[in-house]
Amino acid sequence: MTTPVVVYGAGGMGREVAETVLARSEADGSLELIGFVDDDPDAVGTQIHGIPVVGDGTWVREHPGVPVVLGIGHPRIRHQVVHKVLGMGGEWQTVIHPSVKVAPSAKVGTGAVIFAGCVLSSDATVGAYSYVNYNAVVCHDAVVSDFACIMALVALSGNVQVGEGTFVGMGATTRQGVRIGKWSIVGASACVVRDIPDYCVAMGVPAVPSRRYQGREEMPSY
Ligand SMILES: CC(C)(COP(=O)(O)OP(=O)(O)OC[C@H]1O[C@@H](n2cnc3c(N)ncnc32)[C@H](O)[C@@H]1OP(=O)(O)O)[C@@H](O)C(=O)NCCC(=O)NCCS
Repeated sequence: MTTPVVVYGAGGMGREVAETVLARSEADGSLELIGFVDDDPDAVGTQIHGIPVVGDGTWVREHPGVPVVLGIGHPRIRHQVVHKVLGMGGEWQTVIHPSVKVAPSAKVGTGAVIFAGCVLSSDATVGAYSYVNYNAVVCHDAVVSDFACIMALVALSGNVQVGEGTFVGMGATTRQGVRIGKWSIVGASACVVRDIPDYCVAMGVPAVPSRRYQGREEMPSY
């Protein structure tokens, strides 16, 4: 059976997610990408690599049989969009690139997107509405919580926990068992050897918090 889907977000992240959907379509025919939706009025009606931007977010309400794939990068915006779509009665589609190595005991939540080349090892968990970008590794028993965003080439060691909504920047690595709090940002190429609290930007080798904020709504850009 083929499920028609749209990607929410027609920016750079959305295009990468669309490529992931297309790879899945080609591999097993389970998905058919019918377009993007995007809240930028200038984007609606255009085409991106031949794929139409079919409407803004309200398109989802008018097409209840078409699940949505998350194509937005920033965790805070993802959180808003997920709840908006659920509030309109929409549903979210999980997409795993056919090249991903998923251990039989690994778990992947609703609406997550796993990009090409990733490895989800034994008893790893990737939460709902999160994504794991190109060639990242989630080792045994590691947990990527809901809404967390793991960038390309990140290596999460065994038993590491990444809190809800946390962004782990390109190429960061972690010592086994560390806990990274919720709605935080870990800088590109950081090495996390000690726990990182909630609501902070941490960077460097070893990674240390450099900036703190009060909650999800204050989470900065990266
Ligand atoms: C950590 C990060 C969020 C900081 O962003 P920021 O708060 O805007 O930081 P700034 O660019 O103002 O830099 C502040 C200082 O931190 C340093 N810095 C920035 N990022 C750093 C990093 N990843 N590792 C080490 N030092 C870093 C800067 O050199 C600067 O140092 P200085 O004050 O001595 O000049 C950001 O640099 C980062 O790494 N983001 C992740 C990017 C990523 O993975 N993107 C993938 C998208 S495809």
